[in-house]
Order: sequence, then structure tokens, then C-alpha cells
Amino acid sequence: MKILVTGGCGYIGAHTIIDLLENDYEIVNIDNNSRSTTQHINAIENQFGKKIKNYTIDLCDKAAVKSVFEQEKNIEGIIHFAAFKAVGESVQIPLEYYRNNLVSQINLLELVEEFGIKNFVFSSSCSVYGNTTELPVTELTPRQEAESPYGNSKRIGEDMIRDVAKVSKNNFIALRYFNPIGAHPTACIGEIPYGPPQNLQPVIMETALGKRQLLKVFGNDYPTRDGSCIRDYVHVMDVAHAHTLALKYLVENKNEDNYEVFNIGSGDGVSVLEMINAFEKTANQKLNYEIAERRAGDVVAVYADNAKTRKSLGWEPQYSLDDMMLSAWEWNKKLT
Ligand code: WQD
Repeated sequence: MKILVTGGCGYIGAHTIIDLLENDYEIVNIDNNSRSTTQHINAIENQFGKKIKNYTIDLCDKAAVKSVFEQEKNIEGIIHFAAFKAVGESVQIPLEYYRNNLVSQINLLELVEEFGIKNFVFSSSCSVYGNTTELPVTELTPRQEAESPYGNSKRIGEDMIRDVAKVSKNNFIALRYFNPIGAHPTACIGEIPYGPPQNLQPVIMETALGKRQLLKVFGNDYPTRDGSCIRDYVHVMDVAHAHTLALKYLVENKNEDNYEVFNIGSGDGVSVLEMINAFEKTANQKLNYEIAERRAGDVVAVYADNAKTRKSLGWEPQYSLDDMMLSAWEWNKKLT
């Protein structure tokens, strides 16, 4: 069964391609490598001995994307990862984020209808919940005003799918990721930050490797158990497998509606200070950190109620926080 992946050269896309290959899917990938290289595709082909048809195309170029749909017959489903995703950067260049993330998605959704692609899985984000006080969040928790143009582009992306689904015979799922971290257990692929990393996990790794002098904890005066922000960290391989299960759910016509949303989070809230302790314990190495000012746009706490995903998709997170830390550490020690 042939699956079209967009953004498969990226962090979550590449890990999902591995899970899809292990489930005997045939992969076609479209990526413009604006924020990635083909390093992960090459590593996957070498590690698993399976070919991935890779098109280096910009999804904003509809004619080019359409030519892929014309060449690649019998696409059973699309998993759409490709997007810019740096929250801070999106505040600085909002129109580039809206153009890139929304025009690419509009092109794809038009081609889904034109070519009758039955199944579409969209990479969404827990950032659509904003600074909610209703915790843990379920898929019915009202979405709040997004904290950034990035988060807003995901919210608009969900709304476009919701509205298309009302007049489409095809089936759509949005997966709301919480905080994917970690790397493949073989360390053949992992997260490769584009530019100086902003996210906690890569910053922990850079600090531990001496690439960064100090890790700043953005605030310890929040109303949480230790004063630092709480997030739901989930292993990237668990996130990857959720995509395979979401595709199977649609292909096997188990969906109750032709647009459904699922939380992809471990369900465990972990604070920044607890993440630092988890790394120090797992790697048996002290981290150089200090408490700094709060970061604009940060939500106090967000973590998932993943009961719907477990029940409907049969998804069971397999990896622990220690697995996340250790796999990320093994991968980062390989990064030059
Ligand atoms: C986590 C916590 C920071 C860096 C990310 C993505 C977003 C979405 C959700 C996919 C926060 C603190 C961080 C540092 C720190 N994912 N921190 N010092 O903000 O939850 O959002 O996951 O769509 O796209 O950006 O993740 O890792 O940036 O921050 O104290 O140097 O770590 O304040 O509390 P975030 P993050």
C-alpha cells in the first residue's frame, strides 16, 4: 500500500517513515529540504534496505506537486508533516509562516479532492489548546487563541480540513502532538535542529555536550509543583506509530466521522526541572543551568488525556521518559 508523506526528511516525518516501512507500506516522500537534508532518507534506506521514492519539491508549487500525483498511482493515503514549526521564528516572520504552512496545505487538499485520495492525516499540535486551565486536555477541550502564528497556522489548518470534510467523500484525521522528543533506538536518525534550537530537549543535549555554556530555565515562579512549566513529553517513535495506526483506522473504515481529532501525548505532565533531573540521572552527568526570566508565549502547563486515542486507534505509548532521554542522548552524541 502506497503512502505519500510530505516533510519526510524532518524529525517526526522520518521516524514515521520507519514505522510505516516496518508495517510494509511503500513510501513516496515530498520535501523541499528548506529546513532539512536527505540525511534521514539515506540513513533509513541504508538501515532498513528499503527504497523511498523522494521528490525534492516545494508544496507551494501546485503544478509540481500535481505532477507527483500524476506519476504516483494508487496513493492510499497522505500524511502531511511539511511545515515551518519554530514558535519564536513565527512571531518574527508571520506571513512566511502563513504562506508556507497554509498554501502548501491548500494545494494538497485540492489535489486530494481532484485525485480522490481517500485518507489524509494532518500533523497538528497541542498548541491549539493555548493556555488552558482544563487539564488534562481532551479533544473536546475548547481551543484557545493561539500563542503564535505557528500555533495559529495549525488551528487554521484544522479548520480548513473540518470545512473540506463537510463536502468531501474522503477521510481526514488531525493528530495533535504534545512534545515529541527522543530518537530512534538504533540512533540511525534523530532530531537535527535547524539553526540554534529553542526547544528544551535539544538545548539540554547541547548544554550536556558543551556546545552551549548554560541552560536557562525560563521561569520557576509558575503555579506548578516546582514552579517550572509542565509539558507532556512523548517519544517520537510512539508519535510515529500513531500515524500508522491512524492510517489503518481510516483504511479499514473504522472512523465514525470523516474528520476526527486525536491527542498524541503520553498523558504525563513533566516539569522543566524534572526533565533536567531525568537527564542527569539517565546520562549520569550534571547539567549547567540557571533560573532565568519567563519566556513570552509559554503556557503554564499542558498535558494530554489520551483515552480517545488509546480506545479508537489502539495506541499504547511504549516508551518511558528515561527511554526518551537515553535515545536522545545516544543520538546527540553522534551529531557532529
Ligand atoms: C518546553 C518547556 C520552556 C527551552 C513545543 C513546540 C511546539 C509544539 C509543542 C509541535 C517550556 C522550557 C525551553 C529552554 C526552558 N510542538 N524551556 N529553557 O514550548 O512546549 O512547544 O512543543 O507542534 O511547536 O515548540 O516546547 O521545548 O520549547 O519548551 O526552560 O532553553 O521548556 O519554557 O516550559 P513548547 P519547548
